[in-house]
Amino acid sequence: MVWNYYDGKILFVTGGTGFVGTTVIYRLLSKATPKHIYVLCRGGYERAKVKWSDMLPAAEAKTLIQSNCMTILDGELGDTATMDLSDEDLQILKRKVHVIIHAASSIALKNSLRELDYTVIAPTTCLVQYALKFANLEKFVVLSTAYANAHLWTTSKSTDVAVEERIYSLGSKDENPIETAPDVWKQLQKEGTTDEYESHDFPWPYAYAKQLAERLALNKAALKDASDKILIIRPSVIGPADQFPYHGFTTSYSTPSTACAAAYALHPGRKINLATRCENPEKEATIDEVPVDVVADRLLVHVALGSSGCVHAVSGTKGRLRLEDWWAAFKKERRWPWNVKPVWISEDWHSSNLHHVAKNLKIIGTSFAFSEEKTDLIAEKLDDRNLKIYADRSQPYHNSLVHRRHHIHNLAREMAKKSRLPACSAGILLRKGKPPVHLDKKVAVK
Ligand SMILES: NC(=O)c1ccc[n+]([C@@H]2O[C@H](COP(=O)([O-])OP(=O)(O)OC[C@H]3O[C@@H](n4cnc5c(N)ncnc54)[C@H](OP(=O)(O)O)[C@@H]3O)[C@@H](O)[C@H]2O)c1
Repeated sequence: MVWNYYDGKILFVTGGTGFVGTTVIYRLLSKATPKHIYVLCRGGYERAKVKWSDMLPAAEAKTLIQSNCMTILDGELGDTATMDLSDEDLQILKRKVHVIIHAASSIALKNSLRELDYTVIAPTTCLVQYALKFANLEKFVVLSTAYANAHLWTTSKSTDVAVEERIYSLGSKDENPIETAPDVWKQLQKEGTTDEYESHDFPWPYAYAKQLAERLALNKAALKDASDKILIIRPSVIGPADQFPYHGFTTSYSTPSTACAAAYALHPGRKINLATRCENPEKEATIDEVPVDVVADRLLVHVALGSSGCVHAVSGTKGRLRLEDWWAAFKKERRWPWNVKPVWISEDWHSSNLHHVAKNLKIIGTSFAFSEEKTDLIAEKLDDRNLKIYADRSQPYHNSLVHRRHHIHNLAREMAKKSRLPACSAGILLRKGKPPVHLDKKVAVK
């Protein structure tokens, strides 16, 4: 039922060589028979080939690189919809495409709103506006983040903050956040910030940039009476795949908790300062890490079944981790002769007294209960048991960082270099781990 939807469809994917984009395209090519997939990649086919060959084992890379139903378009997103593509390519997209999956984005959490306007907000808005003119467009998927509403942490009474699959207003009660979005964007472009951003406590400018991009996309669609064409997928913290392209598939840079483990593992002290307002943070604080293949299947299933609006791609209350569990897994990766413990301080998440990783990944010490209502509803209708729309938490988490040992080690080496620690420190302080087979015995894909 789900895969039949894609038969004969033509798709356009931005960010198709990134972590999510690669997983989505791999899944589509393995399970469905789309007529064609156009992929936007800076550097075109040659770069896509290098990226996929580095990320994937030879057989999986071949599925993408040698597909005869895929064209890689050499282009870049910016503040216009043309993406540096030729008129001819743009006309093809305009005439043919049914589904757009917009997964390209900066994930630089702390960049300024001005920078994020250029790398997140404007590309999304321009592309949506342009795509709404496409003759055959059925769905435009915007990849956002579940933390687009993380500002709720500081205002919610509960320390387990419920977040629904909807747009939250940042203004007065009767203000429509979709209608106000264009004026807010104008203010951002003029002043580099907005009143609503300044009056709410977002963990990073990135979270707000995604929130505003969601609203602008929905605004453009509403003006064309096409709101049902916009699907906003909001992943939480993306982690390695449970199943496809292969168990443990990950990249070093797009899995935040891998980076977190690498940085904590290099920490020489016995204490790491973290902020929280939970009374018993080890038990109450949670991390919602979602396998990348769950993000891909949720996205593809919701498109196929015609969902629109905001959909969380998360592990949710059923599958999120207690910080305690994550910490137990992390401890196995560290090789200092002494343990390191979190020290909870009641300062806010911007405090300069936090460990530098906590200053970046400010959600450590929080807990969000992201609703999965829309997925639970469609799950009842699905007859294909092989769809991967929920994270598998049947195994205890304590061994799960073992699969990313190689990536944790590599990241720690880079971090050590940047902090001017001796190059060997990562080797001494972390378990080395076997590289995934394809990185061990690299087989060239022609
Ligand atoms: N990773 C997470 O934990 C996470 C969590 C929540 C939400 N998300 C969202 O999920 C989406 C996908 O993230 P990801 O983890 O797959 O990120 P990723 O691995 O960094 O991939 C992003 C892709 O976007 C491309 N890209 C970035 N800026 C571009 C531009 N201006 N023009 C053309 N291509 C551009 C990159 O191409 P290059 O190779 O050329 O740089 C890369 O292929 C993003 O919207 C992200 O915000 C991610």
